[in-house]
Amino acid sequence: MVITIDGAAGVGKTTTAKELAKELGYQYFDTGAMYRAVTFYFLAEGVDLQKSSNISESLKAMNLRIDFLSGNEMILFLDEKDISLKIRNQKVTSYVSEVSALKEVREMMVSIQRTTTEKGNFIVEGRDIGSVVFPDAKYKFYLTADYDIRAKRRLADFEKINEAKNINKIKEDLIVRDKYDSNRKLSPLKKPDGAIIIDTSECSIKEQVNQILKHIER
Ligand code: DC
Repeated sequence: MVITIDGAAGVGKTTTAKELAKELGYQYFDTGAMYRAVTFYFLAEGVDLQKSSNISESLKAMNLRIDFLSGNEMILFLDEKDISLKIRNQKVTSYVSEVSALKEVREMMVSIQRTTTEKGNFIVEGRDIGSVVFPDAKYKFYLTADYDIRAKRRLADFEKINEAKNINKIKEDLIVRDKYDSNRKLSPLKKPDGAIIIDTSECSIKEQVNQILKHIER
């Protein structure tokens, strides 16, 4: 079974999805990390994003592996090297919207997401999970939050990987990325049909998770 959690960057998807996975004994699945891993790989290989044939060839040659550890951790390996932390850096963050808008990339990622979740129970977080990847999921949630709160949360994420950042710049980047993700042709970020909206601006993590659990119990 799959429970979907969609929403923009910094709305609290990751913390909520991880906690929910713990509460329900499900596996946490971060699809944004997959798009980041492809971006990391394309940057390392110097792939020309304007050339479709170049993209397809590079994707075929990519050796990406996802490992699920103890429920709420997901590790990504490129050529058997753990890249889970590196994919969070600023360079990857600034290119990931462009890479995730590519048809070849999306087709491959969606196919991996569907086959990976065929067996077992998963909390899957992303942008198009309830709308495109699992439109028939029984429980779908769409998280939102104010820009200022989201920027503060992102700042804390960057501090974790020792990257100094300016909060106003983060906010500007969020606005640009949202615009790009929401207006792209393929699988744009939007509230999936039938998804329940959870506004996390004023919520603690516990409250967010409890709201979702209440809907599921109902
Ligand atoms: O959640 P995140 O910031 O790690 O996601 C990185 C990027 O990946 C985000 O800008 C949009 C893209 N993405 C996507 O297009 N589809 C998904 N299901 C998940 C993420």
